[in-house]
Amino acid sequence: MAANEKILEVLDLHVQYFTPRGAVKAANAVNLYVKAGEIVGLVGESGCGKTTVAMAILQMVQPPGRIVKGEIRINGHNIVNLSEAELRKVRWRELALIPQGAMNSLNPVLRIREQMGDAIQAHEAISARDLKARVLSLLNDVGLPERVYNMYPHELSGGMKQRVCIAMAVALNPAIIIADEPTSALDVVVQRVVAQTLLDVKKRLGVSMIMIGHDMGLQAQMVDRVAVMYAGNMVEVGPVESIFAQPLHPYTQLLIESIPSIRERKPLKVTEGLTHDLRNPPTGCCFQFRCPRVEPRCLQAQPAMIEAGPEHLVSCIHYQAR
Ligand SMILES: Nc1ncnc2c1ncn2[C@@H]1O[C@H](COP(=O)(O)OP(=O)(O)OP(=O)(O)O)[C@@H](O)[C@H]1O
Ligand SMILES: [Mg+2]
Repeated sequence: MAANEKILEVLDLHVQYFTPRGAVKAANAVNLYVKAGEIVGLVGESGCGKTTVAMAILQMVQPPGRIVKGEIRINGHNIVNLSEAELRKVRWRELALIPQGAMNSLNPVLRIREQMGDAIQAHEAISARDLKARVLSLLNDVGLPERVYNMYPHELSGGMKQRVCIAMAVALNPAIIIADEPTSALDVVVQRVVAQTLLDVKKRLGVSMIMIGHDMGLQAQMVDRVAVMYAGNMVEVGPVESIFAQPLHPYTQLLIESIPSIRERKPLKVTEGLTHDLRNPPTGCCFQFRCPRVEPRCLQAQPAMIEAGPEHLVSCIHYQAR
């Protein structure tokens, strides 16, 4: 596969949750792609739509949510509106999810060998002997000792459980892993260990990844490109070096300024202001209520994404030609 090939493309994705009090516009015209072997970070504060985009990619948006418009292309083929049977094949061969709060999704009454074995057997005919070897080798791949095979989830630490979830995600050799905040419930040291495990797995298997998170420091160390969302909109996407060296969108600038540093104590800037109600977005730029650079012309329409550098796109009127 050519290194530059887009194996996943999200095109003009709109997802809404139809609640009795109105439609929550959780993803608006979202565009994103992932190339072979690449890690793309998806960042933005709580409620901005990261999990919604992940679930839409997997065709797993839960009611009352629905993909209203857009395409999800895997190797060029749109999977929106495929039948459940067709989808099941794609989902396991191409895509795997490490869900948000994954470690709490392990079944407490099943030993690790049973949960991992069941997941594999649900999709493959495999002998008991091969299955055991496979599970042990997966545990080894994520740096867990053999004894974990016979253990129950409650006997494992949070970081170990999270590594079991990574092992389950890679079990079927997917082309793309979507990891929804894989490290956020863990302490800083274990976070780094789990992040390193993901990087090792990625390197060994050559998978691509979408890494959802809000730890910009961790993103800086892990991902190749960063995609920044605000209130259901993609506001900036770019190579990690250019996003950190030259963040363009005022929201990205706030996110980066808010990375704590002991050498230079700064006010906690990014907490200023609240996101508007996603049922009732304003006309114009989604960031207008919190933007330090807002001007009257920002209130007219959500700015189109414009290319500000190689693969670096931003949705902000300040970078558009007048
Ligand atoms: N089932 C639902 N019904 C109604 N609204 C929903 C539902 N699920 C999500 N939402 C809304 O959609 C928006 C996006 O939610 P989503 O879970 O995608 O955010 P997120 O970026 O993953 O946040 P977090 O960082 O907290 O995980 C939020 O405003 C949320 O309230
Ligand atoms: Mg989420």
